[in-house]
Amino acid sequence: MKATVKAHKDYTISRIDDRVYGAFLEHLGRAVYTGIYEPDHPTADADGMRGDVTELVQALNVPVVRYPGGNFVSAYNWEDGIGPREERPVRLDLAWHTSESNAVGVHEFADWCATVGTEMMLAVNLGSRGVDEARNFLEYVNHPGGSYWSDLRIKNGRKEPWNVKMWCLGNEMDGPWQVGHKDANEYGKLAANTARAMRMFDKSLELIVCGSSNSDMPSYPDWERIVLEHTYDHVDHISLHMYFANREDDTPNYLGLSHKLDRYIETVAATIKQVKAKKKSRRDVYISFDEWNVWYHSNKQDRKILDGNDGWPHAPGLLEDIYNFEDVLMVGLILNTFIRRSDVVKIACIAQLVNVIAPIMTEKGGPAWAQTIYYPYYFASVYGRGTAMQLLTSSPGYETTHAAETPYVDVSGVHNEEEGMLTFFLVNRHASASIDTEVTLEGFGDGSVVDHQVMTHPDLKAVNTATNQQEVAPRKGDGAKLAGGKLTVSLPPYSYQMVRIK
Ligand code: AHR
Repeated sequence: MKATVKAHKDYTISRIDDRVYGAFLEHLGRAVYTGIYEPDHPTADADGMRGDVTELVQALNVPVVRYPGGNFVSAYNWEDGIGPREERPVRLDLAWHTSESNAVGVHEFADWCATVGTEMMLAVNLGSRGVDEARNFLEYVNHPGGSYWSDLRIKNGRKEPWNVKMWCLGNEMDGPWQVGHKDANEYGKLAANTARAMRMFDKSLELIVCGSSNSDMPSYPDWERIVLEHTYDHVDHISLHMYFANREDDTPNYLGLSHKLDRYIETVAATIKQVKAKKKSRRDVYISFDEWNVWYHSNKQDRKILDGNDGWPHAPGLLEDIYNFEDVLMVGLILNTFIRRSDVVKIACIAQLVNVIAPIMTEKGGPAWAQTIYYPYYFASVYGRGTAMQLLTSSPGYETTHAAETPYVDVSGVHNEEEGMLTFFLVNRHASASIDTEVTLEGFGDGSVVDHQVMTHPDLKAVNTATNQQEVAPRKGDGAKLAGGKLTVSLPPYSYQMVRIK
């Protein structure tokens, strides 16, 4: 079987915003407690943050981390997480039916972000609270001093403001599961008022309004239109979320889900344009895809806690999906989609980062390791920076419930002009056929293959564990050749690859 790809230096989609390789960390399960924070852990630093986790996060070069939720934020009092630790209250977290110790709050999170080298993206609570909480939180975080909230921050040990630019106006407010759930008009008005107040403090903030929780929501896509009609002039991004599942154990159909993602982005991009036209606005609003990942492996085991049959445990194991090799392919396809849609998707966050539906797993008191999906995320984040190429791809395909034709070969290309580097990320969705792929390169000059990474595994369900951390890991490829302006590479059945040319 064969596929062809054409790339021309002048045919580009957009500069990729580095922030499409962002991540998300919520006060949920063991993401924070025994995830990033475990003061008794042998690798813990002076702030109680796990050094082994820090290293795994640093390697990913994560540009931005969204915090503190998620569903958690919709009943969260940020003031509970400041001041002397011993005075912080224990609260019941209604979203996940757990107890929150508040041992970690905005100060500890900000310090951790500085250590791992990432930017903060904060969310305000528009579920149980509103404009007042948002303006106070903003003043606490961003005002230099000389006001009630900024002076309290200084008293709590942080002199300089953090100057956080990205602020989410609530979370998944279209979802009936959300504390303080609203309809599109109620939420749109509240979000607009909150955004106006926040902009009175600082016009340069980047504000993110809630779009749909997923494209199967009954209110989708009217939700986006109505919310944007209220907020278009006051926000910069609309947030979308989507989780991917293979509940029927139907791999070809599962891997076709990236079509659904693509359609979701396309539809919301069109809705943004519609509202822009209606408002006769010159401004652009973009998409912040600030929750995405595979999520289904842990659903059954979580039921007991989520139904409240375990009381209010503190930091129990929740949403601890153990990812397999098949999920590597899905994550590679999702990231390819974001690269190809980089003209409209300017922020995206893998949900989440540690323990909770995450590329990094830990054991309390024990090791931290990379799950299978760590690797496609790592390759895209570290090597996928630059300009997205408009590729002309021709590949045989197959039918799924999501689309009449899904190509077996899915590819994205990134040109980093500063480094003179071309990077291709390729996924073969075929179960049994190797696909010989020829990429014609025009206008790039001479070069050679400088890196080639391959992920394959005979068992789609293979996983990495604490004791077998490298069962699913990339290996160096050796079959990619560049000659006469043509890159040739063979893609084994069910495989993920990265090829770099300089
Ligand atoms: O990431 C897990 C949860 O998924 C988040 O809290 C929520 O926003 C979404 O439903």
